[in-house]
Amino acid sequence: MSDTTTHTSGEEYDPFAVFEEVTGAGAVTDPYPVFAELRAECPVHAGGFEGRFGPVAGVDPALLNEGPQYTPLSFDAVQAVLKDGETFSSSAYADSMGLVMGHSILEMDEPEHHEYRSLIQQAFTRKAMERWEAELVGPIVHGLIDDFAAEGHADLVRQLFWPFPVHVIAGMLGLPAEELPEFHRKAVELISIGVNIERGLEASQWLYDFFAGVIAERRQTPRGDVISVLAEAELDGQRLTDEEIIAFLRLLLPAGAETTYRSSSNLMFGLLTRPEQLASLRDDRSLMAAAIEEGLRWEPPLTGIGRTATRDVDLEGVHIPAGSPINVCLGGANRDPSRWDRPDDFDLAREPKQHLAFAFGPHMCLGMHLARMETTVAINAVLDRLPDVRIDPAAPAPQVTGLTFRAPSALPVLFD
Ligand code: HEM
Repeated sequence: MSDTTTHTSGEEYDPFAVFEEVTGAGAVTDPYPVFAELRAECPVHAGGFEGRFGPVAGVDPALLNEGPQYTPLSFDAVQAVLKDGETFSSSAYADSMGLVMGHSILEMDEPEHHEYRSLIQQAFTRKAMERWEAELVGPIVHGLIDDFAAEGHADLVRQLFWPFPVHVIAGMLGLPAEELPEFHRKAVELISIGVNIERGLEASQWLYDFFAGVIAERRQTPRGDVISVLAEAELDGQRLTDEEIIAFLRLLLPAGAETTYRSSSNLMFGLLTRPEQLASLRDDRSLMAAAIEEGLRWEPPLTGIGRTATRDVDLEGVHIPAGSPINVCLGGANRDPSRWDRPDDFDLAREPKQHLAFAFGPHMCLGMHLARMETTVAINAVLDRLPDVRIDPAAPAPQVTGLTFRAPSALPVLFD
């Protein structure tokens, strides 16, 4: 179950190494002082982060948008942008993610977005979630922990948090276990579009053919998994085409697995580096929901998303011309000092308040309940199964890194 590596052409293939390379992990350690400085100057920065973080490792500068753009950083400015999908369109994703995913929900505006989302949502019911928790998430998380529980040490990122959400998604889609390594590999390559267009496009085509085959099978013999539900979903006589289902399935891995591995790792990092908070959560699991929200507020897996202004608009007194790219800074919003005291501190005793890690408005994360459930199961399992789990003092100190995507590369721990 925990074997996430596979062999190709006689060479050892390590998807995590490829993943680290393509997401440029490690390039930026702490972007929050820059977010704070810009936000203090103005809630909406006229520009992007030009040069402030140096060249972004692994990303071809030609692919970075260097034209005039605007960066909302305060909670109110970010929320206002995300609430108003008519003024702030998602369509520009078609030129980036759309190249490898196809026309996915992410790049749709209303009314198309609403119709499509209502169909997709039929696969994410409360009942489905209860089944996934019992049949998939629990067994997958415990199966991965079984592999190292007797050893007294582990890297919780590589051995648990990175693999588990991909296994869960493969299970939700009803893919056989033997297809998982290749599926995982292609999913990683899909998001490598930023550094290697050819590899990203090849993976995209591979996943297209793969899913087209699975959809044909499920249309013949439905099996109750997500692909079968999507193949049968209907609303007011509308059904999803193969093309639409495939675009969603190709989005699901980057959207669902990459983010959940990061949010679980970031939360665990917050807890491990604050042992008194770890102990209070271990002793009182009713704090779990608050801990998860605080982890998401403090270190959201995704610090920025994109929109485009469809008309001239004034935002917090800043004039934005039609056509401007908007660099929506979720990370800045989540540490806005006018909303949270000591915003840079991870503190699970905070009074709960809406944060923007899952965005807001029409595109607010479709998988947020699933992500919360998965994180609850994974963190509870760590606390139950690894007594006295603590950072390994002999290993390099873990650190959350990254600019847009953030997570620690490793969480080396000891336990009794
Ligand atoms: C902690 C984990 C997660 C975080 C922080 C997160 C964050 C986000 C954010 C910020 C967006 C908005 C993107 C935009 O509008 O530009 C989004 C959308 C989305 N997320 Fe998540 N996500 C997480 C987990 C998941 C999971 C587990 C799934 C699996 C089903 C998922 C599926 C989606 C989908 C399908 C969308 C597009 C929704 C739409 O466009 O209407 N996410 N997510």
